[in-house]
Amino acid sequence: MAQKIQRPKGFNDVLPAEIGWWHRLEDAARRVFGGYGYDEIRTPILENTELFARAVGAATDVVEKEMFTFNDREKRSLTLRPEGTAGVVRAYVENGLAQNEPSSRFWYAGPMFRHENVQAGRFRQFSQIGVEAFGARAPRVDAEVLIMVRDYLDAVGIRGVDLRVSSLGDAKCRPAYKQELQTFLRGVAGELCDDCKRRIETNPLRVLDCKNERCRAATAKAPRMLERLCDECRAHWDEVTRTLKLAGVAFTVDPDIVRGLDYYVRTSFELIHVGEGLGAQKAIGGGGRYDGLVRELGGPDVPGVGFGLGVERMVMVLDAQEKKSDRPKPKIVFLAPLGPAAADRAMALARDLRAAGLRVEMDYDAKEKGLGNTLNKADRRAATIAVILGADELARGIVKVKDLRSGAQVEHEIASLVGVVKGMLGD
Ligand code: HAM
Repeated sequence: MAQKIQRPKGFNDVLPAEIGWWHRLEDAARRVFGGYGYDEIRTPILENTELFARAVGAATDVVEKEMFTFNDREKRSLTLRPEGTAGVVRAYVENGLAQNEPSSRFWYAGPMFRHENVQAGRFRQFSQIGVEAFGARAPRVDAEVLIMVRDYLDAVGIRGVDLRVSSLGDAKCRPAYKQELQTFLRGVAGELCDDCKRRIETNPLRVLDCKNERCRAATAKAPRMLERLCDECRAHWDEVTRTLKLAGVAFTVDPDIVRGLDYYVRTSFELIHVGEGLGAQKAIGGGGRYDGLVRELGGPDVPGVGFGLGVERMVMVLDAQEKKSDRPKPKIVFLAPLGPAAADRAMALARDLRAAGLRVEMDYDAKEKGLGNTLNKADRRAATIAVILGADELARGIVKVKDLRSGAQVEHEIASLVGVVKGMLGD
């Protein structure tokens, strides 16, 4: 036998057993985000490298170490998108929407790529479901985005998610805070890991997000942005939190939120799963406001706010929460024609059933005396209903319809089959 070929590390297959969760997550996105006025957008998974360097920030881990970047045949540097926001902003600017429809709202779903150390819940290809809302400066829109993410998690049935919110200030108050933080960090540099020592000069906020215990201890008393907001950022923050309380959406103020991408200003948040199901990677989503990004990417001065949710992590939570047998799956109608004459009739019946929107699978190998065998196959497929049609039934113009959940079997006229089956499936 030839040697088997394996998938690259950190790249996963999504098999049919799991796909029901994916569909539930995508269907809910269409429904819930649609209800808030968001339209779906699909952008390429490959972009010019410069897009991410500029949008995500040259000093971020994502751009420094994690991008899948390569030269194409014309020696142009291309990158597999590590996140969704940059591409959506590019599309919004490039297609003239920033000028003509500045208040556009988009949602998207698709694969992202980061060359990270692989572990439970952390992959090199992963999928995000995300939204981006352009054109609104009002803090109520930040709150609405957070309310929407709650509605979304409720709709898909994910429980135990803590919404952690903070403000990262803006171009007015962050530079002074950054300097203050750098001064503090230089004072404790001896206690920091090598990465953090370097980050003091390149990306000091990131130091507050380091998972290393010694770094955490050394920075416990560091000043936090939330305590240093300018008046405008403070007013924005107060209004966001007031609106969330008014809506009865629970959240935790977390001044340690940093975010791994540079484009955020003011409201920033993470969705942390606090129950069982995820390993060390507890963040099922994150997002925030990015008012300077559209301009940074060559568009007008249009503000934006959005979030991204990790699909694999949500699937892991759903799998831990529900029994394996509760994975969403379609109901199967299994057609068992016993013999060639019955098979001819059954093929036409299968089309009628399918035209009525049902999922029909047929046993093409069933033999005249093979009822037991074909019913075993129906069981293995976890079918809900078996329709049995032998020479005798055919002659009498009937079918036997067996409810495989209860075992009850009833004869019906062939002509009434579609209605009967639909009724049994509760459609
Ligand atoms: P992010 O926090 O980098 O934000 O990613 C969002 C989510 O994607 C994470 O919370 C996590 O669930 C999932 N994720 C990230 N990396 C991995 C990985 N290696 N394996 C599995 N899941 C992963 C963004 O990407 C922003 N674009 C979100 C945003 C949209 N902000 C504003 N608009």
